[in-house]
Amino acid sequence: MIYNYSLKELNTFGINVNALKIIKIRNFFQLCEIWKKYTKKSIPCLILGKGSNVLFLRNFCGIILINKIKGIYVSESKQFWNLHVNSGENWHKLVKYTIKKKMYGLENLALIPGCVGAAPIQNIGAYGVSLKNFCQYVDIVNPINKEIKRINKEECFFKYRDSIFTKNIYKNHVIISLGLSLPKKWIPHLNYKDFKNFNLDITPQKIFHYISNIRKKKIPDPKILGNAGSFFKNPFVSDTLGFKLLKIFPTMPYTIKNNIFKISAGWLIDQCKLKGYIQKGAMVHKKQALIIINNSNASGMDILNLAIKIYNIVGNKFGIWLEPEVKIIDDYGEIDPSTFFSKKN
Ligand code: FAD
Ligand code: EPU
Repeated sequence: MIYNYSLKELNTFGINVNALKIIKIRNFFQLCEIWKKYTKKSIPCLILGKGSNVLFLRNFCGIILINKIKGIYVSESKQFWNLHVNSGENWHKLVKYTIKKKMYGLENLALIPGCVGAAPIQNIGAYGVSLKNFCQYVDIVNPINKEIKRINKEECFFKYRDSIFTKNIYKNHVIISLGLSLPKKWIPHLNYKDFKNFNLDITPQKIFHYISNIRKKKIPDPKILGNAGSFFKNPFVSDTLGFKLLKIFPTMPYTIKNNIFKISAGWLIDQCKLKGYIQKGAMVHKKQALIIINNSNASGMDILNLAIKIYNIVGNKFGIWLEPEVKIIDDYGEIDPSTFFSKKN
């Protein structure tokens, strides 16, 4: 097989791998037709938005479908703006569009890279807000038989960086659109600790700019330093372990809910003195230890090997075994992270 199509510009890690073919998908019918045509011949298909949460380990033996299915449709009820958004829309552009149209609520989720279609998968979140706060339904299709299904918010099982869409049941489905409801009575969310210096008049626009500025300072721009945001999720631990750690590290950042501690993975990695650590082409970001960067022509395996090293060092020091947030893609598709991240490493 000949892999002539480069994915370097189509994944934010900037990993230099190829695919058999890359096809831009502009509508639902094209999606189903192409998916069916190739999977019938046992050639795998993988849908991508902006490639901002994937790590390619090697060449992909199939077809990469780039989602360009666009469309934003707005209706209103007495209390809500209701948006039906197609999955190929850019998330940040959607946030800007809503604010311009005076439909507020999404401002805390500014500057999250990616397409609308990937947003429900890990229930994107930032600064105290997540997609769950607004999502009413997710429409999915089985491209083989064109069957469309609406998954209501309760059935989405949105949790921190998780949803039903990470489970096998919907793995062969494609998200085609979302329904969002934004309350007309705007409620600002200012609980995240980074708002402690927010001393401006509270408006959605000011929150949008404040968050955009913090993000630009903290998170490297993938166009300059390849990365996929946080490599790992923040872990949940028992109160026994949480309180034990707090005794040893009284300044440890954490939140607690129903006796479960949520600890900052970036802080754990930082405590292991790994900031700036370089292994082959990969590096732990100097300012934010939760971000792995493509420092110099890293291969997917370079990034993965550094992540495994971090996982083992943190696990052995704290007894906390991190779970990757980034989706790991091998030659035939996404693979179960426990293949690489399990205590026995
Ligand atoms: P892709 O990387 O293209 O795809 C991710 C996975 O979803 C793949 O497995 C793909 O096959 C699947 N997929 C994509 N589209 C569809 C579809 N339509 N149907 C079915 N499956 C699909 N995330 C946060 O939650 N909060 C943050 O603050 C945040 N900050 C980030 C900052 C940076 C600099 C970067 C690079 C990433 C950040 N992320 C953050 C992660 C990323 O933005 C999200 O995971 C985003 O939703 C990924 O969108 P995407 O279109 O790039 O997905
Ligand atoms: N910290 C350190 N050292 C580090 C990094 C962080 O001590 O190297 C400490 C910070 O000082 C802070 C705490 O850890 O007290 C948390 O750091 P930060 O506020 O930067 O947030 P995070 O928990 O590292 C999460 C999300 C981000 C999201 C921000 C803002 C996860 C896995 N990551 O990061 O999402 O933008 O909060 O809400 O939940 C992503 O998912 O890709 C992502 C970037």
